[in-house]
Amino acid sequence: PVVVVDFGAQYAQLIARRVRELHVYSEIVAHTVTAAELRARGARAVILSGGPKSVYVAGAPTIDPEIFAMGLPILGICYGAQLMALALGGRVERTEVGEYGRTAIRQTSTAGMLLAELPDSFASWMSHQDTIMAPPAGALVTATTEQSVVASFEDAEQRRYGVQFHPEVSHGEFGREVLHNFLFRAAKLEPKWTNFSIIEESITQIRSQVGERNVLCALSGGVDSTVAAVLTHEAVGDQLTCVFVDTGLLREGEADQVVSLFSSQFHIKLVVIDAASQFLSSLAGVLDPELKRKTIGNLFIRTFEEAARDIDAGGFLVQGTLYPDVIESGSGSAALIKSHHNVGGLPDDMSFALVEPLRFLFKDEVRAIGVELGIPEEMVWRQPFPGPGLAVRIVGEVTEEAVGRVRAADRIVREEVVRAGLARSMWQYFAVLAPSLRSVGVSGDERTYDAPIIVRCVDSDDAMTADWARIPYEILDTIAHRIVGEVDGVNRVVYDITSKPPGTIEWE
Ligand code: XMP
Repeated sequence: PVVVVDFGAQYAQLIARRVRELHVYSEIVAHTVTAAELRARGARAVILSGGPKSVYVAGAPTIDPEIFAMGLPILGICYGAQLMALALGGRVERTEVGEYGRTAIRQTSTAGMLLAELPDSFASWMSHQDTIMAPPAGALVTATTEQSVVASFEDAEQRRYGVQFHPEVSHGEFGREVLHNFLFRAAKLEPKWTNFSIIEESITQIRSQVGERNVLCALSGGVDSTVAAVLTHEAVGDQLTCVFVDTGLLREGEADQVVSLFSSQFHIKLVVIDAASQFLSSLAGVLDPELKRKTIGNLFIRTFEEAARDIDAGGFLVQGTLYPDVIESGSGSAALIKSHHNVGGLPDDMSFALVEPLRFLFKDEVRAIGVELGIPEEMVWRQPFPGPGLAVRIVGEVTEEAVGRVRAADRIVREEVVRAGLARSMWQYFAVLAPSLRSVGVSGDERTYDAPIIVRCVDSDDAMTADWARIPYEILDTIAHRIVGEVDGVNRVVYDITSKPPGTIEWE
């Protein structure tokens, strides 16, 4: 792989994704990685990421100096380039004026590879206060800007390359070409990481892990468990049994969709457990959100365990863990990988070994191979949906009536968002019901006294922060009219204009 060494900025994941988009496999490691570990990983090239610190301060993250002597092609980006300069006989200084954002860069030599075939001048993306005053000994300065004496350097003989700008950020020009030049001209790698190769490798890997044993998979209806299950089925066929617990708290049509996809389309052994009435009765009288989650989580585990016992899985459990959950990024950590359980809290005492076919993949790769495997686009691009389902979208007690209402409203929101072509541009869009909050309305000549539906649409990159989506008034208007007209017991629709923080995305 191309190994991206993480110096604690949020850029490392982006770098790895960009490299993979150029069809070269890439992994992220902490900066404490040693030369021996890189060798053991089979590193073919190294990229040193940006970072938040100054390279010359005490305690600034550094790197095993032996890595520079391995003869591997190395590209330093921002902090990474400064670190190379400092470690290899160059000079880095604090400047009065930093460079932030689009910054004109000018090539000063045509002898290099990194900027080959790019215009003499282009707009790079910068974010730095420190500046490289002198490149590593023996390296050629290949570009400058008004503030940066050394905007890029290279030493072809030692295979060392550095850029002060961020080629991984899409706001700058020619970033992709710079990475392309590094991977294919300088490091002479081949673009072999494709959807096809990902699928092939995963299948081989699953087969060798599982052998003749049986495998169990809990489906949630979400994209990760769906792709993980289909991939596992490609590998081991009927050794796989999928279990789908219908909690009765799913969106309209969701259970049917899972059944038709898995049974009819892929002919995967599927056990559907209709546990709706158990879930409803255990939620009776439960008002506290945390207690709701716990109640649902526990019942889910019990239901799943029972099914698992019947099936006698014989040892393996599929999980849709993704690479971002696996990377132990940032500084100082010796363990490169932490184990992460993301199935709604399966008990520790279940004696399953895990099959995690997505643990080296980013979400966009999972979607791409999902499409490649023949999973319908609408499933692959599904919005996130919380494990406890519609229960956390009912503010108050979960009753059959309330579930029916919030489900109907949710369908309307989804239909109108899809109709308006906004589905892919928003992170989530859904309805929340507040059954105990009632307001006076008028319908025909009748006075009504009913509950409101809250419509919640948010933009987000990772659900850590979010902003309410500025969706067109006309669409909100259609949604409001339809909900009041079509959903029983609802006489008012409000739009949630709270960002996260201080709000959360869900209401409970
Ligand atoms: P909040 O409401 O915390 O949600 O801003 C952040 C993201 O996580 C989803 N979410 C959950 N997902 N189990 C899940 O699998 C849960 O209990 C859960 N609660 C919230 C939520 O939909 C949003 O995308």
